[in-house]
This record gives sequence, structure tokens and C-alpha cells, in this order.
Amino acid sequence: MAKQTFYITTPIYYPSDRLHIGHAYCTTVADAIARYKRLADYDVFFLTGSDEHGQKIERKAREAGVTPIEYVDKIVASFKNLWEKLLVSNDDFIRTTEVRHREVVQAIFQKIYEQGDIYKSAYEGWYCTPCETFWLERQLVDNKCPDCGRSVELLKEESYFFRMSKYQDRLLAYIEENPDFIQPTSRRNEMINFIKGGLEDLCVSRTTFDWGIPVPFDTKHVVYVWFDALTNYITAAGYLHDREKFAKYWPADIHLVGKEIVRFHSIIWPVILMALGVELPKMVYGHGWLVVEGDKMSKSKGNVIDPLALIEEFGADAIRYFLLREITLGLDGNFSRDALINRINADLANDLGNLLHRTLSMIGRFNGGVIEAPGEPEQIDRELAQLAQNTAAEYEKAMEQMDINGAIKTVWALISRTNKYIDETGPWALAKDPAKKERLNTVLYNLAETLRIVSILISPFTPATSPKIWAQLGIAGNFAAMRLSDAKSWGKLAAGTRVTKPEPIFPRIEDKPEPAAEAAPVAEAKPAPVVPVVPEVSIDEFAKMDLRVAKVVAAEKVQGADKLLKLEVDLGAERRTIVSGIAKHYAPEALVGRNVVMIVNLKPAKIRGIESRGMVLAASEGDKLVLVEAPEMPPGSKVK
Ligand code: MSP
Repeated sequence: MAKQTFYITTPIYYPSDRLHIGHAYCTTVADAIARYKRLADYDVFFLTGSDEHGQKIERKAREAGVTPIEYVDKIVASFKNLWEKLLVSNDDFIRTTEVRHREVVQAIFQKIYEQGDIYKSAYEGWYCTPCETFWLERQLVDNKCPDCGRSVELLKEESYFFRMSKYQDRLLAYIEENPDFIQPTSRRNEMINFIKGGLEDLCVSRTTFDWGIPVPFDTKHVVYVWFDALTNYITAAGYLHDREKFAKYWPADIHLVGKEIVRFHSIIWPVILMALGVELPKMVYGHGWLVVEGDKMSKSKGNVIDPLALIEEFGADAIRYFLLREITLGLDGNFSRDALINRINADLANDLGNLLHRTLSMIGRFNGGVIEAPGEPEQIDRELAQLAQNTAAEYEKAMEQMDINGAIKTVWALISRTNKYIDETGPWALAKDPAKKERLNTVLYNLAETLRIVSILISPFTPATSPKIWAQLGIAGNFAAMRLSDAKSWGKLAAGTRVTKPEPIFPRIEDKPEPAAEAAPVAEAKPAPVVPVVPEVSIDEFAKMDLRVAKVVAAEKVQGADKLLKLEVDLGAERRTIVSGIAKHYAPEALVGRNVVMIVNLKPAKIRGIESRGMVLAASEGDKLVLVEAPEMPPGSKVK
């Protein structure tokens, strides 16, 4: 049976300048949806491109002293490079300067003209060149463009007009009968109100510059750039040149666009299609805007974020993950470097990275690197398997509703639960007892199996990481062939699979200032105070002490000893009990969850009948004592 098709588009970007992180956001969302749909076994057509004509580009090229095509060629090459580096999986890239597109624009302009829906008249009104938008006097706000707030220019020229007014009632009825057509609902309501205010006929040609597609029957006119641009969606789907392809993919399932251009897509575009007798797209989705540290990005403010520089510094998957996890689709979102680093460290390096690292190192240490067949499951194993299956189902539901954020959260809830499963099942203790070998095998298998499922589910968001997890788990076969159904069934991981040595998939980011930031003023140098020290040790002697980060997982008072606490600590691949003389300084409950530093190769000692295997480090002066902590480091990290 033929697969169901799915056609998704991004806006085509103006090559007037290089793209910033806001543009990258839109394309990342579209890419995540396209990749998800491929995972769900759809035949996907994912389109992006460049909107190259218009007065703005013509002026930019003139300022740069080059021809418009020379100007755009260079910038379009930078778009393609960015999409490649961001791992964007578009199936086509359309340029409005291509012949295939010019032919479609001219053909439809001619057709609509011949049927009487385009007519010649005189235009007198205002024009915003940055937005390439016509405005009536009454629509201006303080004589400026109501969309971008910039200056407008008065135009007086002979133009062709598109009879939009004729389609007003049909469009309104369509929007009202198809609640999904404009999403989210807030944008839909805005559009309904706009149309109810009355649709004016639209000026669809210009004569005062040349950089555009000539009107076929009157070549001193060029086609209005939005009429030209919107048509890209049918050009690339094969409208004129590939009937079979067009029948297969049209109508588009989603035009994903920024909120300020929903109007063009849900009013002008449907009316063009109605005039052509072509079906309307199923959905126009208006996403929110990305602001930087709470502020709109602009060159004049100097706060434009270059996505390529971020990809170079942090990697494509980290940027993609941040954009998709941090911003709720449909709402505005904030980009901040601190938030990005926090997400990388907490979600990717800690939660996901640690789960993989712990799993692989335990399989390496306890089972010689082999994922053995699981034994009889216990209740806790059945619960984990059930949760993994529920997660795949919840994830699917969320993705189908375009709740990308929600889908990511469900997967991370599974990751957290699995990290906890390690603590609760204690594989390091099982490994010590040969009678518990089968139980150990079950636990280790379940960990690897959960990671297999997780790697499939996250692949639309972090496409480079998933195959890396797959490779470290040692799973044979092609990751690209995996489908959502493979993530829905538990137990597909073949016993006997041999894992590799763990390699960090997301190294932790040390919180360093932005490269461009000014260095902090250096404090005036003071002579160092002389501290009496114990005799010197060599670096080799120091290296004999194995200092590690340990997470306190349980703490309680030692009966009958008012200075002592009994701590259970997690060292990544093992748990230990230690007795520590800090009861006067810390309440037991205040310690749980903290990452302290301890010496792990200290000779064990029996204190009040408890074997203490290690010692936590603390700074002390007089009555004061403060534990040495490494809050963001994963348990087991070496301290040197
Ligand atoms: N060329 C038109 C689109 C034609 S589609 C037939 C255009 N181009 S654009 O380059 O100005 O913008 C492209 C997209 O980028 C828009 O959807 C816009 O909303 C989006 N973004 C621009 N800045 C943005 C942010 N700061 N945040 C999120 N998206 C932003 O409009």
C-alpha cells in the first residue's frame, strides 16, 4: 500500500542578509516535524527556499555595488550552508529566480487575468519596503508601517489589481468551516476579524523597479513579490511541470510561518488558490518570535545571534534541542546563552549523557561488554517497560498535535525514571553476588533497551546523537531504517549485543563568558598571605588519592552519636555507605540530592559498627564547616 503523504513548508527567506537564530528556529521546527513524520512512516516532502525578488533586494544589491542576482547568489549559498550544518533534511530548496518558478508565476498570473480576476488600474497608497507590503493611509500607525514600525513611502503608479474582494465571503466561510486551517486559535480569530473588516483588492504589480518576474502580457510591470513568493509552494510541488507529483503532495499539510506573515498565508494565498480552482492547504501554523534576552533582535541593537557560530561552539543537536525544548510552539520565546548552557548541561550531558555512560560502563565492567538476555521480570521491570511503551504513545500524541515541547518532556520523564531505576535496582550490588547474575542481566538489558527506544524517539530533535547512541550500544543495522513502531515495542534489542566503550555524547559546557564579552576588571594584586603548610607532596603522591563527585542519595543520624551521619552515596557505577562527622552542621534531609566531593580509596573504617568506605571533604575553620560541592558534575566524575 502506498504510504500516506505529508507536505510541509517553511517560509522562503529573503536573501537580503544572512539568517539569524529566529529564522533557524522556524526551520528547525519544520525539520523536527518532517523527521517525525518520516519516522511515523509517511512519504514526506519538506520544502524550504529563498524569496529573491522585490524592491528591498534590488536596493541592497545597489548599495553593495553588485547586480541583484550576484547579491542573492552569495546569500542563498549561505542559507544552504546553514541548513546543512543545522542538519535540516529538506527535500527541495526553491529559489524564486529559477525558471521553473517564473513559468508558474507567469502562467497563473495570465490565467487569473484572463478570467477577469486581475485588472489594470492606478495605485495610490503607501508601501513598506522592508515588509514588501501595501498599506492604506488609515492602516498606518503614526505614519509608520503597522507591522514593523518603519517608514513607508508613497506610491503612485499604474498597477494590476487582484480582485480579492470577490472572494471575501467564500474565504470566511472556508475558515469557519475548517477550524484547523489557521492555527493556533488566537491567530485564527485575528484573521477572521481582519477579513470581516473587509478585503480590498490587492495591487499585484509594480512598475518603478525591475527586479521581479515580468507580467507576461505587459512586461513593464513586475509581479508583486508576495504574489510571486507564495506561489513557490505549488511550483515546488510540481503544479506545472509534474502533474503526478502535484497530485501526490498537494494540498500541503502545513505551511509553518512566523506570526507576522500568517495574514499573507491565510488570506492572499487561499484567494489565489481559489481563483485558480486549486485546493487550499490544510493548515497555516503561525509560530511565535524568538527574542534575545527579552529583546527583539536587530542590527542596530547589536543583538543578532548568528546560528552558525552557535553550531560551531555547541553542535547542531544542542542548538536544535534547546530551540525545540525551550520554546512552546505558537508562543514567543527567549534565547539566552545561560539558558542554552543550562539545557545542555542538565538535560543532555546530565540526564541523557549520564544514563548512557552509566549503562555502558556497567555493562562493560559487570558483563564484559555484552548485553545478556534478561531473566524473569520483576514488578519494577514491568513498570519500566510499560512506561517506555506509554512514552512512545504519549510522544506520538503530542507530536501529532504539534506539541513538540510536550513530546520532549515525555521522553525526558522516561530518561529520569530510568536513571532512578539504576539507583533502585543497584546493579553494583547485584554484580557482587554470583547468585544474582540473572537479575543483573535483566537490569542491564532493560537499561540498554530503554536507551534504544529513547534514541529513536529523540531522532527528530537530535538527529546526529541518535545514531551515536545506537553505535555505542553496538546495535547492528541501519538507524535510518528505524520507525516509530520500533520504539513502541519493548524487547527488540537482541541479546548478545556487544556495547562499545562509552564516549560522552554531550560534553558538559563550562560556564565561560561569551567570546565577545569584555573581560572583568582585574582586582589589584595584593601580596599573598603566608599560610603554614604541611610538608610538600609530589604530584604523583597527590594522584594516589582518588577523589570523586558523589551524590548523596540518603542520609540519617547514627543512633547514639550526635556528631555522626550515615550517608548513602552514588558514585555513578556504584553506591557506598560512609559515616561522616558533620551532623552538627547539616540536617540529614538537607544533604540528599547534593553532589559532594569524597575520597574513595581511603582505607575502610568501622565507625559505630558501620563500615565507612570513604570520606567526604569539607572546608572548616573554627566552628564553621562547609562541604566541598560540585553541584553540576555527574556522580563519579574525577576531582583533581
Ligand atoms: N520572504 C518572506 C516569506 C515569504 S513565504 C512565501 C519573509 N521572509 S523573512 O526572511 O523576512 O522571514 C522569514 C520567516 O522568518 C518569517 O516566518 C518570520 O516570522 C521568521 N522570523 C524572522 N525573525 C524571527 C524571529 N526573531 N523569531 C522567529 N521567527 C522569525 O517574511
